[in-house]
Amino acid sequence: MFIRFIPDLSEVFVPKATTPADLAITPRDRRFARNTAVRRWWLADDPYATAFYNALSVTFPKGEGFFVDSVRRFREGTPPKLAGEINAFIKQEVLHTREHVAFNRHVAQQGYETKRLDLDVDRSLGLAKKGPAIIALATTCALEHFTAMLAHELIANPRHLAGAEPQARALWLWHAAEEIEHKGVAYDTWLHATRDWSRLRRWAVKSAVMMGTTWLFFTGRARGMADLLRQDGITGPRAWARMAWYAVVRP
Ligand SMILES: [Fe+2]
Ligand SMILES: [Fe+2]
Repeated sequence: MFIRFIPDLSEVFVPKATTPADLAITPRDRRFARNTAVRRWWLADDPYATAFYNALSVTFPKGEGFFVDSVRRFREGTPPKLAGEINAFIKQEVLHTREHVAFNRHVAQQGYETKRLDLDVDRSLGLAKKGPAIIALATTCALEHFTAMLAHELIANPRHLAGAEPQARALWLWHAAEEIEHKGVAYDTWLHATRDWSRLRRWAVKSAVMMGTTWLFFTGRARGMADLLRQDGITGPRAWARMAWYAVVRP
């Protein structure tokens, strides 16, 4: 009788997959802004907003390549449902990369030099690649978490992309929707890969990785944004203040 009031600890401590059982992750092969020009400040003629998205876009091809590699390494031995989700995740990320490579060509056509941003990404991802594969997977979980949060915000608040070049807007919304759709896949892979770990060990590793990733992600993107703005002739404390305003206050 009394036993009914004791919580079922196996329920509490055995993590469940986060991707909903009835969700089919669907790669949508679409192309954007292939035959149209994208103007320099394509987002509402605002150099700050444009620099924010351009700096993110420049990181995607290498970042998403890293996500794909780190999740794929743990695909073997996963249950069929998760293995299928990993495959769909990989297809989506590969298509995102293809479209952001094309978008980044528009950024380059506007005269922006992105070599320093690329090196920055190489340095940050290099740290994760040097360690064990499980750390790369945890880093992917952390970055996919940020991506999904940004994606949600982008779709929930239309003002973020108001005044954007239509093809660029369509690209970002398509990418955001698929990021939300597959946001649980890296984490489900991590749960499967660490199924023999204690809850404490899992918590310790993912917390440490999240702290490091948070620092590298935000400082890296801020540096990238500042670099692009400098190429617009926008520099100094005023530029940093306006960047902080854009990042923290509005939008
Ligand atoms: Fe993506
Ligand atoms: Fe993703």
